[in-house]
Amino acid sequence: MIKDDRFIIAGLGGAKTLKGEIAIGGAKNEALKVLAGSVLFKDGFSVENIPEIEDVRKIIELLERLGVKVEHSGKNFYSLDTTELKEFSLPADISKKLRASIVITGPLLARFGKVIFPYPGGCVIGKRPIDMFLSGFRKMGANITEDGETFTVEAADGKLVGAEIFFKQQSVTSTETFMMAGVLARGVTVLKNCPVEPEIVSLGEWLNECGAKITGLGTSTIKIEGGDLLIGEGKTHHTLPDRIEAGSFIILGALAASELTVKNCHPDHLDALTAYLSEAGVNIETGPDWVKVTNSGDEKFTALDVKTHEYPGFPTDLQAPFSIFLTQAEGQSYIFETIFEGRLNYFDALNRMGAKVKVLDSHRAIIDGPTPLSGREIESPDLRAGLAYVLAAIIASGQSVVHNVEYIDRGYEEIEKRLVSLGLEVKRVSGDDKNELCQCLPQN
Ligand code: EPU
Repeated sequence: MIKDDRFIIAGLGGAKTLKGEIAIGGAKNEALKVLAGSVLFKDGFSVENIPEIEDVRKIIELLERLGVKVEHSGKNFYSLDTTELKEFSLPADISKKLRASIVITGPLLARFGKVIFPYPGGCVIGKRPIDMFLSGFRKMGANITEDGETFTVEAADGKLVGAEIFFKQQSVTSTETFMMAGVLARGVTVLKNCPVEPEIVSLGEWLNECGAKITGLGTSTIKIEGGDLLIGEGKTHHTLPDRIEAGSFIILGALAASELTVKNCHPDHLDALTAYLSEAGVNIETGPDWVKVTNSGDEKFTALDVKTHEYPGFPTDLQAPFSIFLTQAEGQSYIFETIFEGRLNYFDALNRMGAKVKVLDSHRAIIDGPTPLSGREIESPDLRAGLAYVLAAIIASGQSVVHNVEYIDRGYEEIEKRLVSLGLEVKRVSGDDKNELCQCLPQN
C-alpha cells in the first residue's frame, strides 16, 4: 500500500523568478543495472555517483537477500562483495515493486544455471510484457516452467549457451539482461536490434573493464564472448549523470526561471530535448558539463509536435514533463507516445488545473496552449507523471497538493530540498500526518 506522502507547493502563477544552479545525480537506469551486474562478479567492486533513491534502496535490499554484502560507505557510494552470493530465487515482495529486478534474472541464470522470479512490477505505465526475456532464455538453451505468477528458468546442463537473439522491439532492460547473461554463457551471444542508450554503453564498458568481452556497444548489434566470473579487484565505477533528471530541471528552467544552470550533466545526452526547446524559442546555452536556460520573462514559446523515440530520439521518460511545457506554448502541440501505452493517463488532472489537452487514444494527445494553470489537489500516477505534476504545480497560481510522492522518490533524490534551494516553497507532509491537510483547496 502506498504511504501517500504529499508535497504542498506554492505556485509561482506563471512568474519566472527561479534563479540558481542545480547539480545532477547519477543515472537511475544505469545505477540499477550496474548493481544488478554484481551477480557476474567473483569478488566485488565499488560504485560512486549512485542516486539515493527508493529504487536503489530496493535493488540493494534484493541483492542483500540473495547473499551480496553491500556497504553504504558514503553518500552516493556503495561497495559490493559477492563472494557469498548463493541464492537464485528473487524475493517476490521486492521484485514485484521494481521493474529493474528483471535485469538480475539474466546474470543469475548465467551464474547458477537456474533462476526463479515473479512477474516484475514497476511504474504503472501500461503493459510491461516480458515475452522477449522468456524467448531469449529459451534461445540460450533454458527451459521455463510457469506456476501462477512465478517463473522457474533452468539452463540445460546447468550452463547457458551463446545464441543469436533478435529483439522484435528495441528494449533497454532486455538488452542489458542478455548482454550480462552472455558474459557467463558458453560461446558467443549476438544481440540484434539493440537500443543505443548511453546507460547501456556505460554498463557494457564497465563490465569490459572487469574482464567481459563485449563489442558493438552503442550500435544495434552487440556481441558477447562468454567467459568466467568477472573480477572487480577493488575497482570503482562512476555512474553517468541522469539525463532524465537533467532534462526535467531544464524544462523547469524554461517554465519558471530567470536563469537556471543545470550542472554535472552530459549536454550531448540531452540533444533531443534541447533541440525541441530551442525550436520552441527557449534560450539555451551549453558548456562541457552544463546547460543554462535564461528567460527575460515575456518570451512566447511556440507549439511543437513531439514523438517519443529510443535514444537519441526524444525520451519517453521526458514526455510528461515536456507536456507541461507545451501547455505554455502558443498554438496546438501534438504528442505521440510511441514506447508505452499507459503514459498519457496524467492529462485528466492537468485539465482540471486548466490545461486544454485532448487525448486521442492511448498513444496520442493534442495540447492547446498557452493556458494558465491553477493549483489543485492531484495524485501522482507514476514516477515521471508525478514529476510533471510538480512542474505544473510550480507554474500554477495558488497552492497545490501533490499526492503519492513515493512515486517521485523512486527516481529523484531529495527533490523537494533541491527545489527549495532554487527559491520555491515546497513542503513534504508525511502520509502519517493527517493534521497537515491543505486548507481552501479545490478538491478535484
Ligand atoms: N517490450 C516487449 N516485450 C518485452 C520487453 C519490452 O514488448 O519483453 C516492449 C515494451 O512494452 C515497450 C518497449 O518494448 O513498448 C520498450 O520497453 P523497454 O523494454 O525498453 O523498457 P524497459 O527496459 O522496461 C527502460 C527504463 C524505463 C524507460 C524505458 C525506455 C529501466 C529500469 N527502465 O524500461 O524507465 O522508460 O527503458 O527508455 O531501465 C523510468 O525511469 O521512469 C522508466 C520507466
